[in-house]
Amino acid sequence: MSEVHTAHTADLDAATLEMARALLFAVFGDEMEDDDWEHALGGMHALVWEGDELIAHGSVIQRRLLHRGRVLRAGYVEGVAVRADRRRRGHGADVMEALERIVRGAYDVGALGATDEAVGLYTKHGWKQWQGPTSALTPSGIARTAEDDGGVYVLEVGVPLDLSAELTCDWRAGDVW
Ligand SMILES: CC(C)(COP(=O)(O)OP(=O)(O)OC[C@H]1O[C@@H](n2cnc3c(N)ncnc32)[C@H](O)[C@@H]1OP(=O)(O)O)[C@@H](O)C(=O)NCCC(=O)NCCS
Repeated sequence: MSEVHTAHTADLDAATLEMARALLFAVFGDEMEDDDWEHALGGMHALVWEGDELIAHGSVIQRRLLHRGRVLRAGYVEGVAVRADRRRRGHGADVMEALERIVRGAYDVGALGATDEAVGLYTKHGWKQWQGPTSALTPSGIARTAEDDGGVYVLEVGVPLDLSAELTCDWRAGDVW
């Protein structure tokens, strides 16, 4: 039996955070960097446990997105990963359901940067591909992030969005989307 728990970063002990970090480094391999782990912190985590083993993780943290002159409070999903030997059993869906409840209850919009592998999971859950240009609010002004075009997905939660317009994210170290 597996169970999904949600908790803020502040309420996870060091051993649990280390297990989550190790899971993400194992799943993403060379593509995972310390900045990516840092991006997953400071918000709510969804953790799937099988006994005392952590088999799936995702988190949602707050970011600001600029869209058509409006600043949106975005629930940004990070670090979604299911241990390789536990996939296709619905754990990814369980993590997303837990995070989507938080997005719907606390934010203007949900957003994430998708891997090709996870697009099916997200679109099944109602996430939509951003069609317009993406950019980031960098220390030297708004800069296009053309390499991220097509890889950003949003969950509409009440604020009307024009998916073909520009979407700008706030600044951070590492991958901005
Ligand atoms: C993407 C990822 C999180 C999905 O996790 P998962 O636990 O396999 O997800 P689910 O089991 O909920 O859904 C995956 C598929 O299994 C199917 N499935 C779910 N339960 C099933 C079951 N009991 N029997 C058979 N198939 C099942 C789902 O319908 C879905 O099918 P689809 O791919 O045809 O849509 C996982 O593959 C992963 O960790 N990938 C590497 C990291 C990654 O890319 N993360 C995303 C970052 S943006």
